[in-house]
Amino acid sequence: MSPLNVVVGITGGIAAYKAVGVVRALVLAGHDVHVVPTEAALRFVGRPTLEAISRNPVHTDLYEGVAEVRHVAIGQAADLIVIAPATASTIAKLATGIADDLLGNTVLASEAPVVIAPAMHTEMWRHPATQANIATLQARGVTVVGPGVGQLTGADSGPGRMEEPETIVAAALGVAAASARRDLAGRRVVVTAGGTREPLDPVRFLGNRSSGKQGVAIAEAARARGAEVTLIAANLEVPEPDGCDIRHVSSVLELQQAVTDAAKGADVVVMAAAVADYRPADVSETKIKKDGGDDGLTLELVRNPDILAGLGHAPHDGTLLVGFAAETEADEQRLLELGRAKREAKGADLLAINRVGWTEGFASDENAVVVIGRSGEIVTRVHGTKMSVAHGILDVVVSETTSAAAAADHPKEVEST
Ligand code: CTP
Repeated sequence: MSPLNVVVGITGGIAAYKAVGVVRALVLAGHDVHVVPTEAALRFVGRPTLEAISRNPVHTDLYEGVAEVRHVAIGQAADLIVIAPATASTIAKLATGIADDLLGNTVLASEAPVVIAPAMHTEMWRHPATQANIATLQARGVTVVGPGVGQLTGADSGPGRMEEPETIVAAALGVAAASARRDLAGRRVVVTAGGTREPLDPVRFLGNRSSGKQGVAIAEAARARGAEVTLIAANLEVPEPDGCDIRHVSSVLELQQAVTDAAKGADVVVMAAAVADYRPADVSETKIKKDGGDDGLTLELVRNPDILAGLGHAPHDGTLLVGFAAETEADEQRLLELGRAKREAKGADLLAINRVGWTEGFASDENAVVVIGRSGEIVTRVHGTKMSVAHGILDVVVSETTSAAAAADHPKEVEST
């Protein structure tokens, strides 16, 4: 990553001493760091420490450097703003846009992405005022890292601890990298995520272990890269992302209807949801009762439509179809063969092959996929957090859709004599 101009805002909480670690990690990673502490922060950590670690002068006073219009210049020059720790009071000021100190002015004068790491006592964090302010900031695109759960300043413990400096820095640099890439601007992307549930009766369903984490990461990453995103959410077990048009579904037939509607005119459809292949032939209107005796129960299942195959085998010019293959096969070659056959059978343009198992894939934060293209060739292999896998898949989507758009603009090269 090329060096960034990073503003680190430090506000007045005991975790301010740990912010020194945030500044140091950013400097060691090669970034130009400008620390803007509040007056309260300087009661916890001294200006000489911050100047030495950041290797830059440290300003707090709104009325110093007026000739160089410092109150807006710092924000205008920033590529990224990290506020760690962010106290309840600072969060409230940011949510309402109060600019009564240098940090408040810097944030308002900047178009850079903002990442905050809240730190406060559990009661303050849980207070509806703080939660409403956090929701306002998230809706505005601010990334909130933490707070972590653990020992607080006193004897108490709970949510409210500032996240560790390395976690904050990794998240902040990820946000900066994504916001620098606006390569999906103007594209409409539909993502399905989660796992379907097929009702048996009013209290039971047939489901699967998909949490929706990978699909949600793809939706978030696509939005961060500038796309207009429709997320079709099937029973997510993770928080819904901001900034996406979210359509809630539960069963396969609901998912099919929602995807069919959303896919019209979409540039990309990513089928990350785990879709049930069968559903009960009959749904009982009342709770199914044991009939007495020790006999088992036989359920009759009927086939569900294959949504991806339906899209893949219909004309879909201009819409790139990306499927997933969830396979338990351990052997690498066999896994690829299964993936190739699945892509072909479904008519997907790209297929991300994903090994799943009792401990792999579902609900975990990490993932590894092999993406294959129309001739079964390996286009990319990506592994890491589900967010980095999401970006790896979108890198392929961008190059596929860009070359398709270029081909449409110049259908053929005509040689003139
Ligand atoms: N899929 C779908 N409709 C279905 C089943 C799957 O659209 N009825 C999609 C999934 O969203 C995924 C891809 O097809 O993008 C492959 O899903 P997967 O569960 O791996 O494969 P199946 O088609 O269900 O095949 P099998 O269970 O036999 O491996």
